[in-house]
Amino acid sequence: MSTKIRILLIVLLGLVLAGGGFALWRSVLPENIVSRQGGTSGEALIGGPFTLTDQTGTQRSEADLKGHYSLIYFGYTYCPDVCPTSLSAITQGLDLLAETDPAKAAAVMPIFITIDPERDTTEALAGYAEHFHPRLMALTGTPEEVAVAAKAYRIYYQKVQEPDASDYLMDHSSIIYLMGPEGNYLSHFTHASTADDIAEGLAKQVDPALAAGS
Ligand code: NI
Repeated sequence: MSTKIRILLIVLLGLVLAGGGFALWRSVLPENIVSRQGGTSGEALIGGPFTLTDQTGTQRSEADLKGHYSLIYFGYTYCPDVCPTSLSAITQGLDLLAETDPAKAAAVMPIFITIDPERDTTEALAGYAEHFHPRLMALTGTPEEVAVAAKAYRIYYQKVQEPDASDYLMDHSSIIYLMGPEGNYLSHFTHASTADDIAEGLAKQVDPALAAGS
């Protein structure tokens, strides 16, 4: 084999590997997971069946998403910063929207789902939810139930034990999903979204006429 052909083969192999890596990288980005929803399959890639329990002890499922819009955020009550910031942004965003368009705000249910069911009992969630929106539905379940819900929403979470701390932390995806009245994915906000961003986004996307159940 001549040196030229050998170099050509190496370059080709490199291109194939880079292409595969790029495809893999694209497939794991949440933006790409969700943007593919507009494709021909019509299959929702975010969301799906779950069975969880709210802070009052009532069992909830994906059926509870029907008839209104939902802002769904996964986190945990021991989270030192990101979760309370996101839940505050959701709360204040809905309050801002309520000032300009109360019907739209009323059509949105904020939902918090714990990824730390070990510590986040219904009682713990009841106390925590009081700090945020009065209509916040806070959900927990068995570790298996939480895993099913997190998987349906493409949420990553992992226990992290700090060497010198008695308490553990949770690494987790921080994304706020806006689901439509059929439980379908519409769009999302991030942990960097402000209350204004959320209020503006909801004002654009929420149609109270479609939220029959609210
Ligand atoms: Ni958090």
